[in-house]
Amino acid sequence: MKKNIAIVGYGGMGGWHADHARNSDVLNLVGVYDIKPERNELARSRGIHAYDSFEELLADPNVEIVTIATPNEVHCPIAVAALDAGKHVVSEKPVTLSSALLDKMIDAANRNNRIFTVHQNRRWDNEILAVKELKEKDELGEIFNVESRVHGSRGIPGDWRAKKEHGGGMLLDWGVHLIDQALFAFPDDPVVAVYARFDNITNKEVDDGCRVVMKFESGLNYYVEVGTSNFISLPRFYIQGINGTALIEDWGKPIKIVSCNQWAESDVTPIKAASGITKTMAPRDEKTITTYERPLPPSDVHDFYRNLCKAIDGVEPQLITHDQMRRVMKIMEACFESDRTGEVVRTNI
Ligand SMILES: NC(=O)c1ccc[n+]([C@@H]2O[C@H](COP(=O)([O-])OP(=O)(O)OC[C@H]3O[C@@H](n4cnc5c(N)ncnc54)[C@H](O)[C@@H]3O)[C@@H](O)[C@H]2O)c1
Repeated sequence: MKKNIAIVGYGGMGGWHADHARNSDVLNLVGVYDIKPERNELARSRGIHAYDSFEELLADPNVEIVTIATPNEVHCPIAVAALDAGKHVVSEKPVTLSSALLDKMIDAANRNNRIFTVHQNRRWDNEILAVKELKEKDELGEIFNVESRVHGSRGIPGDWRAKKEHGGGMLLDWGVHLIDQALFAFPDDPVVAVYARFDNITNKEVDDGCRVVMKFESGLNYYVEVGTSNFISLPRFYIQGINGTALIEDWGKPIKIVSCNQWAESDVTPIKAASGITKTMAPRDEKTITTYERPLPPSDVHDFYRNLCKAIDGVEPQLITHDQMRRVMKIMEACFESDRTGEVVRTNI
């Protein structure tokens, strides 16, 4: 039987959740509530029930799941109130703004025996599934470097994302996805050091871009970059293993793999560059490498809510766990500290 969901915050992402619920095989959309009356009117004009207040939504016994799609600073109080009202809760990412606030949300879930999770929907991005597959198939040998970038050229959006008081900034907006993806693809490897630098090109109040290096205990270097002043974009993923290299140029593009089938080469013709020659950087003899590409693995983001409903019924473990939320939050806190101090932050996350 479908579970009844209500959405708090009917803006861009609230609209996405509402449409998603209406197309879901496991959800039944019972209503939305937005603090702005005009957003509730818009919902009604689209045939969606809109509550007059948050309290009215919480008091509706039909509502089983509350999804929070408001700006980031109010995720925590809304989640705690909804959990205390006996609802299961999905918070949009970032789940909240600090580990201390996250603990309050987890405490509320535990004392009410309700499911509480975060919508890290980008675990269903085909690109990260391709990276995970590369690792699981051991196709490149041991992976020692991953570079994960998202680039735009419009600066930081001019809405609440540009304001610190609302939990704005690109680390919390996009960095959270890329860090969560890193821990999703390499789950059993503790992060032992974090170094971060923020950009403030179009906005001084919060970061409008960030660069984060995570060093994992295995030695893996995982680089995350979010940019909003990139008029030329770099590839979405660049992955190096000891036996090969993989590249994903852009969202939806096939994964290209070059693997080394024979380390030794009989002869190398040097490249003549403008002011010298180099053998080190000369292309390999084609006979020593294998080059191929394949489409990204398929995925279905409806699996997020399918899993949530099964977790509520106690028949499947919750995919995005409290511990995973804590890890991502602690890494983001280490990023803020690293950017502030200019130092590498030693971690055991
Ligand atoms: N997972 C994703 O792919 C994804 C994508 C975009 C946004 N998000 C997240 O979704 C959340 C919302 O982002 P958005 O782009 O939809 O923002 P938005 O500004 O488009 O919408 C936010 C809405 O929340 C309403 N609101 C503010 N405070 C409220 C309150 N106390 N109670 C009820 N409604 C309130 C606003 O009036 C607005 O309509 C953020 O946490 C953001 O990080 C996630």
